[in-house]
Amino acid sequence: MNLLSNPRTLQWLHRLATPLVPDDYVELVNPLWSTRAINARVVSTTRQTADATTVRLQPSHRWTGFKPGQYVRVSLSVNGIRQTRCYSICSAAGEVNNCFEITVKAIADGRVSQHVNRALQVGDVVEISDAQGAFTWGAKMPEKALFISAGSGITPVMGMARDAARNGVMPNLVWLHYAPASSEVIFAEALATLQHDHPQLDLQIIHTRLDGEHFSEKTLAQRCPDWQERSAWACGPGAMLDAAEALWGQTTAQPLITERFQAKTVTLGDLTRGTLRFAATGQQVEVDGKTSILETAEAAGLTPQCGCRMGICHGCTVKLKAGQVRDLRTGKCFGEEDDLIQICVCAPAGDVEVAL
Ligand SMILES: Cc1cc2nc3c(=O)[nH]c(=O)nc-3n(C[C@H](O)[C@H](O)[C@H](O)COP(=O)(O)OP(=O)(O)OC[C@H]3O[C@@H](n4cnc5c(N)ncnc54)[C@H](O)[C@@H]3O)c2cc1C
Ligand code: FES
Repeated sequence: MNLLSNPRTLQWLHRLATPLVPDDYVELVNPLWSTRAINARVVSTTRQTADATTVRLQPSHRWTGFKPGQYVRVSLSVNGIRQTRCYSICSAAGEVNNCFEITVKAIADGRVSQHVNRALQVGDVVEISDAQGAFTWGAKMPEKALFISAGSGITPVMGMARDAARNGVMPNLVWLHYAPASSEVIFAEALATLQHDHPQLDLQIIHTRLDGEHFSEKTLAQRCPDWQERSAWACGPGAMLDAAEALWGQTTAQPLITERFQAKTVTLGDLTRGTLRFAATGQQVEVDGKTSILETAEAAGLTPQCGCRMGICHGCTVKLKAGQVRDLRTGKCFGEEDDLIQICVCAPAGDVEVAL
């Protein structure tokens, strides 16, 4: 048994270390030895395009692996403030030292994505969650599959394709990938290699800025006439996923699984302006009725806990003290005192107080 995993040793170390805990010292020696968090060290960074970077991470022994297509929550400090964001794993499973890769596209004014692309360095340590998500191959590999991806939405399907290639089980796969121009195609070289090595892969890269072509039923039928017979996965901008889900909804096609990088929101009708009061600090700010409580709190200088920022993980849940909120995914207002609300997908509907 490892000395540090013996409960009695830990008890003694705990007494000796108080007011700190042994993990505080252990993490100073090697952050990957932490027993309370899954840490991961950056072992390489590779520029994919002008604004997208692949980061290779070596996780600690607490990492339990992933299924291709899943994502991890990554927490890191940006300008002294801890931020958490989700990133899909774009490499195959089972690599040396359990290393895996994420690829991050910089978004204008994006706090984490800009930091990863401009400042993250080899040797830096980030905290990660267990792998999550149901966007995976599933129990049985389909004989015929269809991938529809756009922009950075290529990351989870790249992980799935790489994993299939690595295990020698690449299905008959039509893959439509949309990018504005060739210079903006993430994984361009790796895609060419996959295509070269797997004749059953029909990779069609569509340059939307040059060709003016976007995803639609007509172009799908032209590019993949038997699309209804294929198990399908799609990841990309909300408008593309909305169109695909609407199309699949009208047919008896094989299932479509989608992954969204941002919450699906509805167009809100009449908005109720008001004030948002943060009970713990006593701060009060004016609100427009459409900005999430999480974003409003961050703009006010607070640092609420959060994870996915799109209503999946419940990592941002806080108590509603007064007033009602609007769920930005449905437009519906709800809430009573002491209700737990997900502040990343709720905006105040009028005057509201939350336990922040
Ligand atoms: C399951 C999941 C998997 C993801 N996988 C990846 C991935 O593999 N690669 C990747 O690059 N990103 C991925 N994302 C998106 C990522 O989590 C962040 O949302 C993104 O990096 C922006 O974070 P930021 O801190 O830079 O922007 P923020 O500072 O949070 O936001 C800045 C501005 O950008 C807007 N914004 C936030 N996210 C997006 C977005 N995705 N697209 C357009 N505008 C946005 C915000 O509304 C805000 O106005 C994934 C998200 C989810 C939920
Ligand atoms: S941050 Fe994940 S549900 Fe709000």
